Amino acid sequence: MKAHIVTLPGDGVGPEVTAAAVAVLKTVAARYEHEFTFDEQLIGGAAIDATGAPLPAESLAACQSADAVLLGAVGGPKWSDPNSPVRPEQGLLALRAALGVYANLRPLQVHPALADLSPLKNEKLENVDVLFVRELTGGAYFGAKTRTADTATDECKYTVAEVERVVRRAFELARGRRHHVTSVDKANVLETSRLWRSTVQRVATDYPDVKVEHQLVDSMAMLLLTQPNRYDVVVTENLFGDILTDEAAALAGSLGLLPSASLGEGKAGLYEPIHGSAPDIAGHGVANPVGAILSAAMLLRHSLGLEAEAVAVETAVDQVLRHGPHTRDIGGSAGTAAVCDAVLAAIDEHADSAAVFLC
Ligand code: NAD
Ligand code: IPM
Ligand code: MN
Repeated sequence: MKAHIVTLPGDGVGPEVTAAAVAVLKTVAARYEHEFTFDEQLIGGAAIDATGAPLPAESLAACQSADAVLLGAVGGPKWSDPNSPVRPEQGLLALRAALGVYANLRPLQVHPALADLSPLKNEKLENVDVLFVRELTGGAYFGAKTRTADTATDECKYTVAEVERVVRRAFELARGRRHHVTSVDKANVLETSRLWRSTVQRVATDYPDVKVEHQLVDSMAMLLLTQPNRYDVVVTENLFGDILTDEAAALAGSLGLLPSASLGEGKAGLYEPIHGSAPDIAGHGVANPVGAILSAAMLLRHSLGLEAEAVAVETAVDQVLRHGPHTRDIGGSAGTAAVCDAVLAAIDEHADSAAVFLC
């Protein structure tokens, strides 16, 4: 098949991990006879430096006409002055809003070979398989903001329609998994959470085959550590989902491992690892590329409908996590490029064995 993919490497380790994910997509294209074209565009601090804007019009237009968008990360100390009116993160938020990608899928699995890296005891990590569905285009991120010399506000607003579409997506996804949805809110305090919870209760009546439970976000933060294997699909609002998924990444062993897919009703999905620009390691060639590579696998699955190719990438990553090489964050000493090369070789091997099987 033909597909046009826009890449937005961004800042810090963004370009390093995006290069690995692009190499994987190119190998997939070569091995499975697809024609992928790539168009690299500016976003974040790199875009501010080059154009003054965190999401230049040209970048946005390119994303809007792409089949899928692959992003690295944005931000960093150079652009983090709290008094600056222009920030790299504004570019990412504007892109999510413009693409209408309201459902951010963040899967968490704990690879058995990495269980020792987790702060939790191994037995707690058995069978951990959670799909976080984070609402991505509403809440405090997008409400009105004010700032005077001594006061600041961030409005947190949700409409029923915004909640309903992401919750329905979560129920649908649960039907393809273990039929269990946990909705996380702060309904004991926040009005937006009470609207969220009553919407979940109403939508749940359309899914009698799916078990639903409600959990307050503070106790959920604790339960994720004490009983992570209780959860199947976890749906929550934007800010709670941001925080809980970084916590979840610690269970997997590193923030560098988790991928994400941001989906809406439109054509182009947005794919990015959940980590940031990792300024402390940027430029050293040691960033873990696995989160970005698994995001590319999600791109193959969700935007291009290439399930076998997505599985080939995931199988290759599984092998590399099992046998190495590993980057520093997961206890190894390999660089980003060496891990990427090992994944490429494993994809080749997988394709060769599939070809033999077909013969
Ligand atoms: P971060 O995710 O960049 O880094 C947190 C820690 O995790 C660091 O110690 C870092 O070295 C480590 N880490 C992250 N990714 C890694 C990888 N691939 N391999 C190995 N280690 C990795 O979070 P932060 O330091 O709080 O934020 C830095 C900047 O990134 C901020 O400007 C923030 O806004 C931005 N950010 C961007 C995105 C995004 O673009 N989607 C996501 C999160 C944070
Ligand atoms: C993420 C990041 C972003 C978010 C920032 C960079 C805007 O932390 O993708 O998780 O908070 O959504
Ligand atoms: Mn985050």
